[in-house]
Amino acid sequence: MARLGLKSKKGLLLYGPPGCSKTLAAKAVATEADLNFIAVKGAELLSMYVGESERAVREIFRKARSASPSIIFFDEIDALGSSRGTEHGGLNVLTTLLNELDGIEDLKGVFVLAATNNPSILDPALIRPGRLTTLLYVGLPDFEARAEILQLQLRPVDVEPSIDINELADITDGYSGAEIVDLCQSAGYAALDIGIETGVKQSITLQRMREAIANTPKGITSEQIRRYEEWNSNRR
Ligand SMILES: Nc1ncnc2c1ncn2[C@@H]1O[C@H](COP(=O)(O)OP(=O)(O)OP(=O)(O)O)[C@@H](O)[C@H]1O
Ligand SMILES: [Mg+2]
Repeated sequence: MARLGLKSKKGLLLYGPPGCSKTLAAKAVATEADLNFIAVKGAELLSMYVGESERAVREIFRKARSASPSIIFFDEIDALGSSRGTEHGGLNVLTTLLNELDGIEDLKGVFVLAATNNPSILDPALIRPGRLTTLLYVGLPDFEARAEILQLQLRPVDVEPSIDINELADITDGYSGAEIVDLCQSAGYAALDIGIETGVKQSITLQRMREAIANTPKGITSEQIRRYEEWNSNRR
């Protein structure tokens, strides 16, 4: 890399619809990787007193440098990275963040991970070369991912033995991971209610999952997904 004058890419932005595991993925990185993990939410930084937020941003980078190898995770960075949200001194925080990010390519062992479900309000300066240069779309779970989420939710609980995870994965197409977790909860509560009513223990059944699906509209529309694609193709 040095021979070709290349700098390593240190900044990654995860973007995509709500409830599709951006935060979960970042936490998984923290657990899996042998790196120090410093996590902070955009809104937390903004809620501080005037001047405190900028100091906090600098402090985060200072900590990351002294604890390297390390990852800084800015979750819901849109709160902080939006150039319009200036009413809480957001612009100063953004400027501080941009300054700190400018140094990361030359820093050994410090990586920055950020996440947003609303990339269109991000200040474009955040994704300029040298800053958050790698963008990764985290979309709705595919069949395999849905089957895994359902497995995780249903394996440890009382489900009817004949329940077919693949069939459930089929009929939950279009729901986010968080919504699928919710569907399992709804089906569980339905079983609990009937159990109390009848005095006979009930389990989670295919029928109850179907009812939960019928009662739960999908939160993410194809129009929303199209807007993420549009943002991605127009961003530079
Ligand atoms: N792939 C997955 N595997 C297991 N659970 C998942 C998965 N995706 C989502 N979930 C469930 O949904 C919850 C919400 O996911 P998460 O908080 O990571 O979403 P997010 O993409 O950060 O959403 P937001 O944009 O609203 O912050 C998780 O805590 C988990 O319970
Ligand atoms: Mg999140």
